[in-house]
Amino acid sequence: MTGPTAQQTPETAPAAPPISFARGAPSTDIVDVEGLKEAAVAAFDTDPAGMTGYGTAVGYVPLRRWIAEKHGVPEDHVLVTNGSMQADAFLFDELATPGAAVVTERPTYDRTLLGLKQRGADLHLVTLQEDGIDLDEVEALLRSGVRPALAHVIPNFQNPAGYTLSLEKRHQLLELAREHGFVVFEDDPYVDVRFSGEPLPRLLELDGGAASTSVVYASSFSKTVCPGIRVGYLVGPPALVERIRVRATNTYIAPNMVAQGTVNQYVRGTRFPAALERVRSALAERVGLLDVALREHLPQASFRRPDGGYFLWVELPAGEGHDVRRIAQEATRRGVAIVPGTDFLLDGGENAFRLAFSGVQAADIEEGVRRLAAAVAAAQG
Ligand SMILES: Cc1ncc(COP(=O)(O)O)c(C=O)c1O
Repeated sequence: MTGPTAQQTPETAPAAPPISFARGAPSTDIVDVEGLKEAAVAAFDTDPAGMTGYGTAVGYVPLRRWIAEKHGVPEDHVLVTNGSMQADAFLFDELATPGAAVVTERPTYDRTLLGLKQRGADLHLVTLQEDGIDLDEVEALLRSGVRPALAHVIPNFQNPAGYTLSLEKRHQLLELAREHGFVVFEDDPYVDVRFSGEPLPRLLELDGGAASTSVVYASSFSKTVCPGIRVGYLVGPPALVERIRVRATNTYIAPNMVAQGTVNQYVRGTRFPAALERVRSALAERVGLLDVALREHLPQASFRRPDGGYFLWVELPAGEGHDVRRIAQEATRRGVAIVPGTDFLLDGGENAFRLAFSGVQAADIEEGVRRLAAAVAAAQG
């Protein structure tokens, strides 16, 4: 039923359920709950001691091995963490020390900015283009005397923009890193949720994989298995991994073995490939619908349709007095949530917002965009 019932006036009718384009999380229908339950049981059945003991700070050893094989590196290059957020935090503690120069993309993941700011890093945000970070701007920074300890990039389906770093720029960024002695932090949780186009080699691989000295890589099972399981990991030179292992031991003794044992069973099992395919095809369908709905209801918006991931970045025409905070408020009143562009920048972003399509089922996308278009119009009025 769509309209109010006989007893309900539009004022007393229950509000339409909210639609959230705000959270970078999957809707429950694209999580393989049954498969995860089976994997958890299998983990306890096959390795009760491993599941119930503390384990070690490097992570659950069979999962660490699976990750090492996936990336073609020895196991001592890998540390499995409670979500890749934890890997990011450990790496920032090592390299983004107070005053250390750190390059990030502009815009970038809000929690990355927060983590770097909290540590007192000297932040340099570099324009993100549709093919990735603007390397002319990075070179200009280097020429001006900035000596970064770290350059953080999200190479695939960037959060918040959905853009992907081109192959040419991957090579160029690595050349700059080698020449100027900085580490590239390849923050890559979305790589396996590509739904169109050809995969690109990781910076880690381009830098020699196990022999890499310029890249530290992080990824996650949040986007391929589920975020609640909180399993992510870091791949890097063994000396750095060892320093981080000590930090991890001092922080929590060891990460969550039950979660890692479950992921280990799940990714080695038969259900994982089909489940991942289901995630990809659901995301592809959602982004297609979002593309159509935006063109129809918000024709003044500009955006680039991503080839994977969770996000799409929308810009409204500059100079027309758009205020994304007002838009977000009007959107909330109309039962749709977005994240203002300003959250992903140190300044600017008032005419932009991020739409996460991962958590919105296909049937709700058009309605969500309709509400959003009404919010944009109300905020302008
Ligand atoms: C770029 C980026 N890095 C790291 C994370 C954290 O992911 P995890 O769930 O593995 O902690 C996210 C989550 O949205 C992200 O977008």
